[in-house]
This record gives sequence, structure tokens and C-alpha cells, in this order.
Amino acid sequence: MICRERSGLLRRRGFSGLPSVPQVSDYSERESDMARYKIAWLPGDGVGVEVTDAARLVLDAMEFDAEYVPGDIGWEFWRKEGDPFPERTIRLLRNVDAAMFGAITSKPVKSAEAELIPGLQGKGLVYRSPIVRMRQVFDLYNCFRPCKAYPGNGLNFKEGIDLVVFRENTEDLYAGVEFAPVPVELSSALGRLSKAFSPFQNLPPDQYAISCKINTRHGSERIVRAAFEYARRHGRRRVTVVHKANVVRATDGVFLEAARAVAGDYPEIPMDEANVDAMTMWLIKNPMNYDVLVAPNLYGDIISDLCAQMVGGLGFACSGNIGDRLAVFEPTHGSAPKYAGLQKVNPIATILAAKMMLDWLGENTMAARLEDAVAAVIREGKVRTYDMGGKSGTSEMAVEIARKLS
Ligand code: IPM
Ligand code: MG
Repeated sequence: MICRERSGLLRRRGFSGLPSVPQVSDYSERESDMARYKIAWLPGDGVGVEVTDAARLVLDAMEFDAEYVPGDIGWEFWRKEGDPFPERTIRLLRNVDAAMFGAITSKPVKSAEAELIPGLQGKGLVYRSPIVRMRQVFDLYNCFRPCKAYPGNGLNFKEGIDLVVFRENTEDLYAGVEFAPVPVELSSALGRLSKAFSPFQNLPPDQYAISCKINTRHGSERIVRAAFEYARRHGRRRVTVVHKANVVRATDGVFLEAARAVAGDYPEIPMDEANVDAMTMWLIKNPMNYDVLVAPNLYGDIISDLCAQMVGGLGFACSGNIGDRLAVFEPTHGSAPKYAGLQKVNPIATILAAKMMLDWLGENTMAARLEDAVAAVIREGKVRTYDMGGKSGTSEMAVEIARKLS
């Protein structure tokens, strides 16, 4: 029921950049007992489970018409199957309208291998972050991270901050092209091709490592376009391109040139450019001077955490991984294993991720209702999780938000 209707869904989606059309007969052929949306539900592990439960409680309270299909992902599947993102979960994601994702424990390569069941050890299995893989497998190139200071949140760095980070999500240092040890073919090719490689050329292969930063013109253009489209649609005043092209000339040069080319299509929106190091300083100094930020993958990863901290920390930071066919919504925080099962962490980030999902599905009224409820609970300040200086638990926060839904 999903695929044939996807084009209808795409047209209505707030993020697609395409004009929205009236919701006429997209679903007329559906049987009445079918849910309107099919959502993959991927709690993952650690606190991922309780925060997604909290989001579900709120979605159910709104009577969001969805069928939720649970998907296997996370540390448990790495340990038992050697794959934290099994093929069956990839198949599931091919057949849904959207997905909600919680969090997943990641460990460095060697400790990850040590936790595999004995039968899987020594087989050369390498742990790779499932969320990074998911972004690549489904070409979820647009990592969209709004960072809004909800009024009255005692954790706000300043009231009124309302930043939106667009992070390129599939390329850059996240491309996964890495070598440790470095193969001799590679070191000799680099020795021939680059003078700057000479200090490394004679090192033993296991005494250094190479991670490739790969940025394409296409990948850069489409994330910058997503940022400008958003700015245009939401009346934002400027787009700031974050880079380090003064040093990382080749790859960030591609990003910056692509950004300048795309900016030409949006003459009404000024674009400025900032080096990522200076950007971290300016964001702290004058957060109100910025609006929409767009960056290659790693810089976007870093500045989105910085922006998150300015609006209350990771308990409030939500994230959309958006492609042309699928979008996966998640809290920006990790699995925090030490809090797992304690019903302690703040579910607002995940609840706001659910709000983003509603927007993406075109359920804008529902999304606004949900955001209003979150804002009301924050403003009131009666129910507060530990990060907000309170004693309320994860599900208590969700119940309170559900109570505030008007
Ligand atoms: C994020 C996270 C991930 C990333 C980790 C968990 C792999 O930090 O979504 O920002 O680096 O992209
Ligand atoms: Mg991050």
C-alpha cells in the first residue's frame, strides 16, 4: 500500500521543496481498516528504547493513524549476528513511509569485535555505525537539525535562539573510505601524486592511517539547495555556509563553490561564509546573528551539537535524516548505556523528532499541536527531567506532554 502512493506523499511533504497540493484522493483506494501511514519503529538499544516508547505514547495520544513495524537494529544484532543493521531491516525500510529511530551503542573496532559471540570472532567482521550506514544505503543526504530555544527553558543559553542546521549526511569524512594499515599500493600512488605526502611515505603501513574526505559537487549542491529551499519557505533571513576551505582546499573548495552557485538561485536570501573554527566562536558570541547553517558532514556534526547545547542540550535536539524517498527521524543524542532502563533521560528530543516526522508526512496541524504541547510543558516547568534540574522520569514527561495536547 505504500509504494504506489509514495508520489502523493512526496508531493505533500513539507520538506520536499515541491509545492503542496490538496489532499484529495491519495488514499481513496485504501480499505478503511488500513492505517494511513506505515512507520518503521527502530528503538535500537540503551535509552533508545525508553525515549521511543515516550514518543509513541504521545503519538498514540494524538491518534496518529499509523501502523508501526518494529525493526531489528543495534548492538544485540551485532553481537549475535555480526551485523547491527541486518538485511531484513533494510528491506523493511524500503517499504515504509518514514521511520523513527532511537539510539544505538557504538564502540571502537577492537572492543566491538571482543563482544561478538565466540562463533563470530576472528572472522574479520568490522563494526560500522548502523545510522551512518542507513544514511548511505538510503541516500538520506539531508540531515536537518532545528535548534530552537523554547521559552522558559532554564537551560537555554539565551532566549530566542532559533537556528537550523543542514548537515550533508552521506559524504565527507563519513564516506567510510579508510585504511589502517595503509596498503602499499596506496602509499606509493600518493607518493607519486602528492608532494605533501612525502613525510608519510616511508612510514611502516601500520604506523599511520588514512581516512578519505570525499565531497562531490552534486552532494554539496543538494544539501545547500535544501537549506535555501527551507529558508525561502520559512521566511528565514540568511544562510551561512560553514567550511574550512582556507586549509582543506580541495574538498571544502568543492562545497563552497557549489554553495555559491546554488545561492545564485535565491537572490532574496543573503548567504555568508564562515570557517568552521571561527563559526564555533561566533555562534557562542552572537547566536542571534545566525539563522540557517549549512555544512559538510563532519562540521555539521560538530556545530549541530554546539547549537543543541545552546537550546538546552541533547535532551532537546532532534534530527531528521531525509532523502528523496525515505526519512528517518531520531534524537541527536546517543544510547547513554549508563542510563538505560532507568527512565531518567529527557524524551523531548525524540518527541520533537516525531513532530518533525509529522511535518514531513504533511501532517502539519498535528505537528504544530505536538510542538505547542512540548512548549507548554517546558514553559510551565513543573515536570522536568534530571537534565532540566527536576526529578521527573522519561515517561512522566511524555504523559505530561500528552496531557497538554489540545
Ligand atoms: C550524530 C551522531 C552520529 C554521527 C554517530 C552516533 C555515528 O553523532 O548523529 O550526530 O556521527 O553522525
Ligand atoms: Mg553527532
